Amino acid sequence: MTSLLPSAQPAAAASTTPGFPASRPRRRRRTAALRAMVREHRLVPSQLIAPYFVTHGQGVNHPIGSMPGVSQLSVDGMLDREVELALEAGVRSVILFGIPATKDAVGSENFDPDGIVPRAVRRLRQRYPELCIITDLCCCEYTSHGHCGVLHGEYVDNDETLPILGKAAQVHADAGADIVAPSGMMDGMVAAIRAALDTAGHTECSILSYAVKYASGFYGPFREAAGSTPSFGDRRQYQMDPANAREAMLEARLDEAEGADMLMVKPALAYLDIIHRVREASDLPLVCYNVSGEYAMVKAAAERGWIDERRVVLESLLGMRRAGADAIITYHATEAARWLVDEARV
Ligand code: PBG
Repeated sequence: MTSLLPSAQPAAAASTTPGFPASRPRRRRRTAALRAMVREHRLVPSQLIAPYFVTHGQGVNHPIGSMPGVSQLSVDGMLDREVELALEAGVRSVILFGIPATKDAVGSENFDPDGIVPRAVRRLRQRYPELCIITDLCCCEYTSHGHCGVLHGEYVDNDETLPILGKAAQVHADAGADIVAPSGMMDGMVAAIRAALDTAGHTECSILSYAVKYASGFYGPFREAAGSTPSFGDRRQYQMDPANAREAMLEARLDEAEGADMLMVKPALAYLDIIHRVREASDLPLVCYNVSGEYAMVKAAAERGWIDERRVVLESLLGMRRAGADAIITYHATEAARWLVDEARV
């Protein structure tokens, strides 16, 4: 028996947890009700954020080859239908990525009030007033060179990119976005965007900063979906080195100091340790991005019958919650929300 009296025993031995056979953790796993009662983490549909790729034209539903179930959608009944399915399943938030009509050196459509994202926001805001609308602010879908800012030679100029992000944020907020999400990993982007929003009177528009975004091979399918593959080089001069964890704390603290309302870690599955560490370092809400390559891998294995997609998806998403994410951007949002309701895990 473990004594309650102070003793000279080392800390581990002083634990009050009795060993086997008195302690049998399996007792608590015996029935579904017991397991549910002691379950430590939960995943509910309102924690999922559904991404959409919006494009010009009418009646467009252009499937992305490497992302089965995901399409570029025109801003009409095509987008409405997907959003309605998401809402019916219990998803309440979306994030929009735009496929522009034309690309240029500075990515002008990103800050054009008639651009595809502002159009989509206005439509969704009007039709689904209760929907939480997030817009991605990055320039790479809109620039002819596919980089996330203004180029000087082969260098993405940080400070010249900031006013563009501020302008894009203002235009997206004018259209009705609840949250803007800068994903370009420019230094000072949160401060610049906050100032631009406040000057334009958008003090209520939040900033979800892609504070900790790694230069990742897992973005491959997204670049097909968004047509945003860099025309030369890669994004390592602005996105983070996957080898760095301490630097993630620095990025998170900077963005918090600049006024970010929420932080993001991206990708998710290979970075669960980073999610956990940012969770401990900041009290801001934390979002993680379960990215395109993570989605594509699961879909590919499931199509071959090698894994049970539903189990693997819910297990992965729950893992992200356990690591410390409050909310998750995932291409599985609608499907996962249906599965969750079905399992009554809500
Ligand atoms: C834009 C952006 C990217 C993603 C989200 N915003 C691509 C990139 O940085 O290359 C990736 C999302 C995904 O892979 O699902 N910068």
